[in-house]
Amino acid sequence: MLELVEVSRCYGDVVALEDLSLGVPKARMVGFVGPNGAGKTTAMRIVLGLQQPDTGEVRWEGRPLDAGMRRRIGYMPEERGLYPKMRALEQLIYVARLSGLGAGAALSSANLWIERFGLQERANDRVETLSLGNQQRVQLAVALVHNPDLLVLDEPFSGLDPVGVDLMSDVLKDEVVGGAAVIFSSHQLELVERICNDVAIINNGRLVASGTVDDLRSTGERLIRIEGSHGAVDGAAALAGVTVRTKAAGSVVVRLEDSLDGEQVLDAARAGGPVSHFSTERPSLADRFREAVAYGAE
Ligand SMILES: Nc1ncnc2c1ncn2[C@@H]1O[C@H](COP(=O)(O)OP(=O)(O)OP(=O)(O)O)[C@@H](O)[C@H]1O
Ligand SMILES: [Mg+2]
Repeated sequence: MLELVEVSRCYGDVVALEDLSLGVPKARMVGFVGPNGAGKTTAMRIVLGLQQPDTGEVRWEGRPLDAGMRRRIGYMPEERGLYPKMRALEQLIYVARLSGLGAGAALSSANLWIERFGLQERANDRVETLSLGNQQRVQLAVALVHNPDLLVLDEPFSGLDPVGVDLMSDVLKDEVVGGAAVIFSSHQLELVERICNDVAIINNGRLVASGTVDDLRSTGERLIRIEGSHGAVDGAAALAGVTVRTKAAGSVVVRLEDSLDGEQVLDAARAGGPVSHFSTERPSLADRFREAVAYGAE
């Protein structure tokens, strides 16, 4: 398990991280989310030892993370880091060798990942001639080629088409099944909700919510969906103590203040006209994100 323990880091007056503690257990996928400038990249760079924390510590299996263990990490940096003139396969072999694999093992692992990412036809192309999505596939292959125990990936899904997203998701899920600890940052909350076990939400360098995807979605705000006539929808939306979350012709989702219960919303809707559907809705991860970030900014 990877742990960040009360990690803080400032840049001049800017507090990039403030007492950030979070864990990435083996065989779990953790989504690391937060608004632009929240501190995700800084936290990941600190894990990799590319930046030093002012205070706090990074641990692996309970011990301070050292250079030896850092070689067991697969990293995808935000700014990417391929050698543009190198050929894709060559690049993978090079990185595998740097991580300590022998020549034979490096070649077979590199070939395996080229195949897994469907890059056979591109294996001998220079990286700079590949499309953005294919460069990204090579970038993830680079992170995986030495069979790491921990994956730290900064926005691995950005810029990928849906096929690329599915491929990348499947690869990461397989790594988790194989026992790796995986943490990745992303702004694609629906994707995070779909494929992650756990989520950590940060804002202004602080952890504002964390837990399993289910836990996060089952706590927090209460939402009610009403479908029915124009009058019913308007009646529910106008009730004191509700906030309209989404509204369309014939349907509305409202957020309830603590003082209200669902029955009152239903009554208000019925007073306006016929109701064809009434249900409670679980907040999506995106809802929870907005809530946690708004609260964290107070
Ligand atoms: N090298 C640096 N020098 C000065 N300030 C920095 C440096 N790196 C990061 N920061 C600041 O630290 C804060 C956190 O930035 P960071 O890049 O970690 O955010 P992020 O969550 O990765 O954002 P994004 O979603 O946009 O990638 C920001 O206010 C940023 O301007
Ligand atoms: Mg970033």
